[in-house]
Amino acid sequence: MASPLLLDLKNVNKIFGQNHVLKDINLQIEKGKFITFLGPSGCGKTTLLRSIAGFYTIDSGDIFIAGNRVNELPPYKRGTPMVFQEYALFPHMTVFNNVAYGLDIQKRPEDEIQERVSAALAKVKLTGLEERYPHEMSGGQQQRVAMARALVMNSPIILLDEPLSNLDAKLREEVRVELRTIQQELGLTVIYVTHDQLEALSMSDEIVVFNKGVIDQHGTPHEIYYKPRTQYVADFIGTTNFIPVEVVRIEGSRITVKYGKAGRTVTVESDLSLKIGEQIMLSVRPESLRINEQANEHDFVIQAYVSHSTFLGEKERYFAVDKDTADWVPQWIIDAYDIGATRYRGSIQISAAPDKLHLINK
Ligand SMILES: Nc1ncnc2c1ncn2[C@@H]1O[C@H](COP(=O)(O)OP(=O)(O)OP(=O)(O)O)[C@@H](O)[C@H]1O
Ligand SMILES: [Mg+2]
Repeated sequence: MASPLLLDLKNVNKIFGQNHVLKDINLQIEKGKFITFLGPSGCGKTTLLRSIAGFYTIDSGDIFIAGNRVNELPPYKRGTPMVFQEYALFPHMTVFNNVAYGLDIQKRPEDEIQERVSAALAKVKLTGLEERYPHEMSGGQQQRVAMARALVMNSPIILLDEPLSNLDAKLREEVRVELRTIQQELGLTVIYVTHDQLEALSMSDEIVVFNKGVIDQHGTPHEIYYKPRTQYVADFIGTTNFIPVEVVRIEGSRITVKYGKAGRTVTVESDLSLKIGEQIMLSVRPESLRINEQANEHDFVIQAYVSHSTFLGEKERYFAVDKDTADWVPQWIIDAYDIGATRYRGSIQISAAPDKLHLINK
């Protein structure tokens, strides 16, 4: 029976010599989603993309595309074209020939090629530029040609490996919006690889965070940012504060933890399964902390000293030392927005509402 999932990876492993690069990857992707693979260099993003596309044979596990097991199929039979950053387009070929390339390889009839290339170029709004060469086009237009080249194959999934990394910041932003618009208008399923966190947060329906060949978390950008499952994810996406805490009471999903030398407690909603006495981490984003504001009795509160601060235009970023700890390395980062003339120095109180706090157990 056909699976409702477009892509289903089951216990996928890939080993290069001694290097176990993909470790038991399980991942389900639905049709029409923009999925981002995010992670630092060397964590296996390209390897997984190439395994899905069929350029690498996996060592164990199964890959299903639209319900069909494709492990043994060569790339051209999987229908998962890949757009690579390095050689996005053939420089010596016109736009038309670049887009027609995949169909030429399949030896499709001439009139069918003509028709499908025209349709793909129309979708990315490049009609009329068929005879141009890549060097005669802007970076954004070249990227759209690369998209058309993938679209022309009528593929169920399009795989994009860091397609924007050659572009400058401003153009990157434009092309990012364009890519997302094309994906949404055409209802495409796209897997996009990047190590740029902002890009991932702003473009994706779902983000898959990789940590040394393992998926640490798969969720919406909001979940990944506010409810990171591991310290690695919390650290990798933006900036966060961690403080060690001990579990002292559990009432369903309401977990009370003890923190600091004075043993203050705070109660946080969490779906972790925990035990009394367990040592875990509490994380809170710099923008969720308030300085010297009247704290409510259920709030999280820390006394600290300002070590230094940096003016960043829309905000002032404070670095503060926890009064509970003996060392003078600042552990707290607090962002204060729209500060005007206010600048805190010396002793401060940091607080946060319980709904801004998040528990992590590894
Ligand atoms: N063809 C190959 N042969 C041997 N080892 C490889 C091969 N391709 C990748 N590797 C190794 O597998 C690991 C993961 O590489 P991969 O290219 O998947 O990382 P990545 O997440 O895409 O990194 P980046 O962000 O730098 O592109 C690395 O240790 C790399 O050296
Ligand atoms: Mg890569």
